[in-house]
Amino acid sequence: MTGKTGLEDIFPEENDIPREFMPPTVDQTEYLVDGEIRTWNGLRQEVFSPVFVRRDGGLVPRRLGSYPLLSAGEAEAALAAAAKAYDHGRGEWPTMPVERRIACVEAFAARMKERRADVVNLLMWEIGKTHGDAGKEFDRTLEYIAATVEALKELDRASSRFVIEQGIVAQVRRAPLGIVLCMGPFNYPLNETFTTLIPALIMGNTAIFKPAKFGALLFQPLLAAFRDSFPRGVVNTLYGEGQVVVPPLMASGRIDVFAFIGSAKVANTLEKLHPKPNRLRRVLGLGAKNPAIVLDDADLDLAVKECALGALSYNGQRCTALKILFVQRQVVEPFLEKFCAAVAGLKAGMPWEAGVAITPLPERGKTAAMGELIRDAVALGARVVNPGGGEANQSVMIPAVVYPVTGRMKLFTVEQFGPLVPIVPFDDIEEPVRYLLEADVGQQASVFGRDPVALGRLIDPLVNQVCRLNINSQCQRGPDSFPFTGRKDSAEGTLSTSDALRVFSIRTLVAAKAEGGNKEILTRIVRERRSNFLTTDYIL
Ligand code: G3H
Repeated sequence: MTGKTGLEDIFPEENDIPREFMPPTVDQTEYLVDGEIRTWNGLRQEVFSPVFVRRDGGLVPRRLGSYPLLSAGEAEAALAAAAKAYDHGRGEWPTMPVERRIACVEAFAARMKERRADVVNLLMWEIGKTHGDAGKEFDRTLEYIAATVEALKELDRASSRFVIEQGIVAQVRRAPLGIVLCMGPFNYPLNETFTTLIPALIMGNTAIFKPAKFGALLFQPLLAAFRDSFPRGVVNTLYGEGQVVVPPLMASGRIDVFAFIGSAKVANTLEKLHPKPNRLRRVLGLGAKNPAIVLDDADLDLAVKECALGALSYNGQRCTALKILFVQRQVVEPFLEKFCAAVAGLKAGMPWEAGVAITPLPERGKTAAMGELIRDAVALGARVVNPGGGEANQSVMIPAVVYPVTGRMKLFTVEQFGPLVPIVPFDDIEEPVRYLLEADVGQQASVFGRDPVALGRLIDPLVNQVCRLNINSQCQRGPDSFPFTGRKDSAEGTLSTSDALRVFSIRTLVAAKAEGGNKEILTRIVRERRSNFLTTDYIL
């Protein structure tokens, strides 16, 4: 809040908001259960943007609308609808030929595309993501759906033949698991919800999905598309407080797959409520503290560019963000100088402004929490080395580069999930390696250097600590055809366009001794199309 960073003028007046980016007011009363868009007359959650507006000499968060705060009763109704549609695997959806399920998903994607402008605008206003990145999130999600369809066709082609082994003839396919509860995170509320929901659906499961705590209104333009594209009860939405609507679902013991992207603490609390843990398959994307290791022979310009992007895209609110940088002591001074210059070049502003990188943070009290982490580090001997770093106005914070960070400071291990960049100098490569060995999380790491011998030596120990090692580039999830997972407390199950089809299904086979009348029976079932599972149909 000083003149130096211009933060005091960062928020607009209502009249300054460009017309094409004006937020709609969405006072949502609708929710989708059992193929019906129902109206809720009870309490609603007020939704405010992280964007504040100047009004009467003060700042107020811009109101965006409200959504239903459903009760446990509606959660039970959603569960009953999903259970009826699945009908123990005998429902229309789980037994439908794959080709028809694909047609439903494609029909949904076409309808979704029509609502791009509305969803992208809400995404920007609800979570403060830049307009460009909100558009990318939407388009990437549509691409993910198209790639999922292609991956399923490929899987189906590979499964459309019979195998004969040791005198047994069989057809092996992937079958659905049952009722899936999908919960996405606020930082990718559309994309990461759909990267579990769509594969779950297309494999024949029925689903209940609960939007994240921020980024709930953006699903409202899609409710009718869900209702019209899928059979009744296949997709159900659950709005409200997690503590109210989710425990009854888990405690019922009828959820077969828990697909959750968020914190390990919440995942563990919810899982424990399920009375039949062996029935519950978990698909989890949890915390991470991905480090970058900058070696003394690294191309520093490249390392700085990748580390700045990796640490501060969407203000550091990515599970894959670089959350701690280890820099070899010989190059730490030039690295810091270049890194601070790169951070100074990041424009802070409103998410619709061209070229903006630093935007309002959606979590209430986030800038104060970041300030606490800075204070803790400073009290233990670090300092903020970039001018203006850590200055804040309401929901906006100038990124703080904190140096030198040591193991005694919270920033060493806490996942900041915000605009703080802790930098640790090291003399011996064993120091960052040990950091990874001892960490409770293990998603990805980045290594910057040029010497193939030194890099080669690091690869073998590091790939057994994380699930993706990035050489001379930041950590990231994409391309979406690559496996995305983590070790320890970071993840359970692997997601990619093809892997997700596997995690939401189970290999199931029909087998018979290839003798007596069995061959004739199987041949007739296939030829006369008596089964949707046992078929040699080939989807092109
Ligand atoms: O928040 C975690 C996201 O899955 C990261 O995806 O690396 O493409 O930003 P990204």
